Amino acid sequence: MHFESVEVYNSLSMDEVAQIREKIDIVSFIAEFITLKKAGRNFKANCPFHNEKTPSFMVNPERQIWHCFGCSKGGDIYSFLMEYERLEFPEALRMLAKRTGIALPERPSQIAKSSKKEKIYQINNLAREFYHYVLTKHSAGEKARIYLEERGVTPKIIQTFMLGFAPFTGNALTKYLIEKKLFPRQDLIDAGLAIQYTERVRDFFRGRLIFPLVDHRDNVVGFSGRVLDKNATTAKYINTRETLAYHKGDHVFGLNITKDAIRKANQVIVCEGEFDVISCFHNGISNVVGVKGTALTENQVNLLARYAAKITFCFDGDKAGQEAIKRSLLVVEKKGLMPTVIEITGGKDPDEALRLEPGLFKKAVREDTGVYDYLLAKAVAAADPETAQGKKQIADELLPLIAGIKNEIIKEHYLRKIASLLETSYDSIMKEAQHQTIKEQKVAVNTISAIKRPKEEVMEEYLLSLIIQSDDPKAITRIASARLSGYLPKERACQKILHHLLDHFAIGDTFDGQKFTHSLPTELITSYDTSLLYPLSHFEDRQKLLSEVEKAAASLRTSYIHQKMKQIAKEIKAKEQEGLEKEINELKKEYSLLASQKSQSNFPLA
Ligand code: CTP
Ligand code: MN
Repeated sequence: MHFESVEVYNSLSMDEVAQIREKIDIVSFIAEFITLKKAGRNFKANCPFHNEKTPSFMVNPERQIWHCFGCSKGGDIYSFLMEYERLEFPEALRMLAKRTGIALPERPSQIAKSSKKEKIYQINNLAREFYHYVLTKHSAGEKARIYLEERGVTPKIIQTFMLGFAPFTGNALTKYLIEKKLFPRQDLIDAGLAIQYTERVRDFFRGRLIFPLVDHRDNVVGFSGRVLDKNATTAKYINTRETLAYHKGDHVFGLNITKDAIRKANQVIVCEGEFDVISCFHNGISNVVGVKGTALTENQVNLLARYAAKITFCFDGDKAGQEAIKRSLLVVEKKGLMPTVIEITGGKDPDEALRLEPGLFKKAVREDTGVYDYLLAKAVAAADPETAQGKKQIADELLPLIAGIKNEIIKEHYLRKIASLLETSYDSIMKEAQHQTIKEQKVAVNTISAIKRPKEEVMEEYLLSLIIQSDDPKAITRIASARLSGYLPKERACQKILHHLLDHFAIGDTFDGQKFTHSLPTELITSYDTSLLYPLSHFEDRQKLLSEVEKAAASLRTSYIHQKMKQIAKEIKAKEQEGLEKEINELKKEYSLLASQKSQSNFPLA
């Protein structure tokens, strides 16, 4: 188990790092992101970093640590935040510092990269205000105001999404940022807002309606701009190029505004365009985001999965929209989300449908269908299921998708449906699908089962968990001690920790987890933490727990004795070759003593 340690961060402010860690309680902190349930001395949850149905994500308040036994991620508040919000350490540090009010010293070299990103946010923020001002107040925004009015975009929506307008003049924004806000031109280029023309810089966005692209933490990461003129020859939309702050594949439009509604509905409606999002929002469909007409990436799905369990595609009804849905499905299934589709009626996209036939579209939203039913219907409509060629076409189209379904029951449901539709046996359909699944599995690697450990080691870790997670470590240690005293080796980390515990209770009565860990050699801490967090099953009463301890200790005792006997047998063989009678007899005596002790191992001790 690895605890991603912030100590690797060679920083001037380790004091601050520790101070901040002390000020924030890990349990209440993590509980702000996911629902934690009490489990003995720990808290547990379904891991937010991989898909699971039974919790293996554990948090321990005493040691202020977390660990997932499913995906092996773990650490402290910093690593949780880094993982959850996909931050670099300096960013996480600054966020947590802000929260605690602890001031960080400026460390220009170490946070150079991240402060560069921060600077882009800052510039983008000013640019957003500038564009918004032009749109709402300035005469240069007149044409855009009319355009929006004609498209039914209200002042309220303009305000909510902070829409803007980039003037036609080639350098209005750059001039403002350089002359009024004193930014060096390179900063504007780094933000993607300006482009260099030999000696001069020009605005990247000119004469376009501006949609600020804001992430779920309210950072303005970039912009997209739409031309006003129907007959323009340039691209209808242009977006900020990839910068330190903007990665197209990581971003979804609108989430900063719609995330609460998405969480509440436990459903996210994914549209193609910015106008689709704002129109939906305006019409009271608030649990919506936009993805710029492309298939969903894994990062986008992971982001959305934090807010909702159901993901509803509302892409344009054309072939391209269908393809985008299909290409998104694998990542959606991988994350265990439920995919559905809204079939747009009354227009080519949600924005148009809401303008022309709002009632019809809202009905379609209420009646979203399962993605696989939708794709099945489309595939059948596109080919003739009566002919052999048509059957193959339908199977080729659908089986790779159906094979990706995680839930076996749902998968079988659709396989049967396809079988009956194509008048083919379920067997051949299944075989064909398995073909697909095997191809898939080759890519996945199972890291957990790859590490095989001796069963004693697993049992020691378990026994240690039973002791240190219990309310009465002393009583449990006593049971273990009665079984193991004199037999417990001192080689592996858990064995050493168990020895420390036996020694501890030989002289003391009380147990303080904090103090105990401080008394342990540092190389044992990770093993201790693993056992402290290990997700034990719940014991109904004390008696059940005690008998479990008894069982674990007895089985360890048996295997220790067994191993010792094996070793003695080996020694006897060696001595026999040398003919050392006396030593052989000693060893044989020891052997039979162990044999009799072993046979007693399974009887309860007095
Ligand atoms: N898009 C883009 N670059 C383009 C064209 C489109 O980034 N050159 C993105 C935009 O986010 C756009 C979405 O893909 O909103 C869908 O494109 P399209 O259907 O062509 O546009 P609409 O969303 O219908 O835009 P509008 O309603 O403003 O015409
Ligand atoms: Mn449109």
